[in-house]
Amino acid sequence: MENLEKKIQEADSLEALEKVRIEIFGKKGVLSAEFAKLKDIPASEKKEFAAGLNRKKAQLLDIFNSRHEILAQEALHKQLKSEDFDLSLYSFNSQKGALHPVRETMDKIIDYFVALNFAVESGPMAEDDFHNFEALNLPKNHPARDMQDTFYFADGKLLRTHTSPVQIRTMLKEEPPIRIIAPGAVFRRDYDLTHTPMFHQVEGLVVEKGHKVSFANLKWILTDFLHEMFGEVDVRFRPSFFPFTEPSAEVDISCIFCKGSGCRVCSHTGWLEVLGCGVVDPNVFEAVGYKDVSGYAFGLGVERFAMLLHQIPDLRSLFEGDIRLLEQFR
Ligand code: PHE
Repeated sequence: MENLEKKIQEADSLEALEKVRIEIFGKKGVLSAEFAKLKDIPASEKKEFAAGLNRKKAQLLDIFNSRHEILAQEALHKQLKSEDFDLSLYSFNSQKGALHPVRETMDKIIDYFVALNFAVESGPMAEDDFHNFEALNLPKNHPARDMQDTFYFADGKLLRTHTSPVQIRTMLKEEPPIRIIAPGAVFRRDYDLTHTPMFHQVEGLVVEKGHKVSFANLKWILTDFLHEMFGEVDVRFRPSFFPFTEPSAEVDISCIFCKGSGCRVCSHTGWLEVLGCGVVDPNVFEAVGYKDVSGYAFGLGVERFAMLLHQIPDLRSLFEGDIRLLEQFR
């Protein structure tokens, strides 16, 4: 019994310690043998003998546990030292990734406007009727709501059909001057060659106090932007209608495939529609409590830009998750 502590302390490996453990604490070990003596001891001494033995056992367990911890640590250190990893080693199986063309196009668009000091804003994809429609001069039952086939939730909320609600959110929390773009996903019930139920837009909004902002400013910036994106193209502004802008326009560029002479992509018109825009309608300013301000807004579809820039014939292929599509953009 006396040299048990020493035995534990002298075990110099986990294996050696395990042998000692069996020798002391095992079924046929020293302690079991001691406890077995209980039955031969006179009843009057039993209690004291048992208590002493239990104390001894607890002591030995303590010593054993701390010795075990030390040896386990040592073993771990030894293992880590012998296994030499070089995390910087080049792997021959590594595959190069690529930015998704929508991401890459979005970044290009954002970079243009950020360079002109536009801030980047965002808003929720699950919107309410007020931000997506009503505050944008699209009252309930307004026929223009049909322009955007909407996904509704059971509680009346909806998936935003455009990024324009971010205009409203920004104007409600900030005072002019405002100069923002709002990139993000939007949702419409649509599915064909050129439409997917989820796609991306970049919204732009500029508001100044007084009457500083005009259609001319809008025309200049969008023309410059489209030249930056598509190179030397003709740009034309075609009168159009959006409830939240007045006057409104759609913007076309001369077809980048046939240079305006007419082809399948431009439906033989020589022009490609790429943007919606206009001067912010007074009703929108009224909805957010702005007085004596002027501004312009625009919105564009990122997938449309990506399709044109990369000559992708079917928009749906962008979202099918086929690695072979991405591999083309490495
Ligand atoms: N929100 C419009 C759309 O999704 C685009 C737009 C934005 C038009 C801002 C004018 C001004 O079709």
